[in-house]
Amino acid sequence: MYTQALDAQPGAAGADDAEQQARLARFQERIDRDEKIEPTDWMPEQYRHMLIRQIAQHAHSEIVGMLPEGNWITRAPSLRRKVVLIAKVQDEGGHGLYLYSAAETLGVTRAALIEQLLAGQARYSSIFNYPTLTWADIGAIGWLVDGAAIMNQIPLCRCSYGPYARAMVRICKEESFHQRQGYELMLTLARGSAAQRAMAQDAFARWWRPALMMFGPSDAHSVHTAQSMRWKIKRFSNDELRQKFIDATVPQAHFLGLSIPDPELRWDAASQHFQTGPIDWGEFEAVLRGDGPCNRERLAARREAHEAGAWVRAAAVAYAEKHPEHAPAASVG
Ligand SMILES: [Fe+2]
Ligand SMILES: [Fe+2]
Repeated sequence: MYTQALDAQPGAAGADDAEQQARLARFQERIDRDEKIEPTDWMPEQYRHMLIRQIAQHAHSEIVGMLPEGNWITRAPSLRRKVVLIAKVQDEGGHGLYLYSAAETLGVTRAALIEQLLAGQARYSSIFNYPTLTWADIGAIGWLVDGAAIMNQIPLCRCSYGPYARAMVRICKEESFHQRQGYELMLTLARGSAAQRAMAQDAFARWWRPALMMFGPSDAHSVHTAQSMRWKIKRFSNDELRQKFIDATVPQAHFLGLSIPDPELRWDAASQHFQTGPIDWGEFEAVLRGDGPCNRERLAARREAHEAGAWVRAAAVAYAEKHPEHAPAASVG
C-alpha cells in the first residue's frame, strides 16, 4: 500500500509508485461509475481506515444511544408507549450489530472496536451525552435525533462500500419508524394539558441545538469531508445535511405549536432556506472531548453491561468449541 515504496529496493520505487497510481486511478474510476466496492476488492488503505473510523463511530453511537432512552422504559406512561419504546431501543441494539459486522468486513474485529469504546478511545455521537430529564425527551429524541439520523443516513444507502450501504437500507427503514413514533408522542403532548405542552416545549428547547450539532462541524472545519465525498462515502457535506434537517423540522415544530429556541431563526427568501443563529461549537468540542453532561455515566453503563455480559461471551466460546461447525459464534464481542 502507501508504505510499500519504503521497503522497495533502490530503483524500484518509481515503478511501484506508478503501479500504485494506476491502481488508485482504477479504483476511482469504479467509484465514479457507481460500482460498489466489496470486502475482497483492492482498496486504498486510507479508504479502509476512513470507513472503519466512520462505521465504528456509527456502531458505537447506536449502542450508546440505547442508554438515554432505556432510562425511561420502566416509566413509560402506558403499555402501548412501553412496547413502542422497547421495540425502538432493541432496534438500536440491532443497528449496532449490523454496523459492527460491516466494520468486521474491513479487517477489524468487533471485540477490538468495543475495547476502544470502553477504554474511552473511540468517539460516538455527541448527542447521547445529554440527559433525558422528562418523558417528553423520549418524543424529542425520536423526532429530532432519529430525524437527524435519517437525514444523515439515507444518502449512506448509496455509499460506495457495499456492506455499509446494504446495512443502511434496513437501518433507515427502522429509523423512519423511530422518527414517526417520536413525532406522534410530541403531537399527543402538544394536544394535551398545559403541563404536557410545557413539558414538550422544554424538551424541544433542550434538544434542538444538540440535534443541529449532530451533523458535525461546519464544512469549513471538517477535515475529512472532501476526500470522503470523492470516494462517495459521504454524498452531502455536514452543512448541506444540517440545512435539509432545519428546513424539514421548523415547519413540523410550528405544526406542533412549539416555539423554536433561537431568536435569530428566520426564513431567508433569497436562498429559500431557514437560517439559524450561530451554533456553539465550543460546547460540541467539549462534549466530544468527554466533558458533556453524561459522558462518564454513559461509558460507565457500557462497561458495566460489558462485564455483566462476560458469561454470555464465555458460553458462546464454549459452545463453539463443542460445535466447530458453528465456529463463527466464537467471535461474539
Ligand atoms: Fe439507529
Ligand atoms: Fe433510531
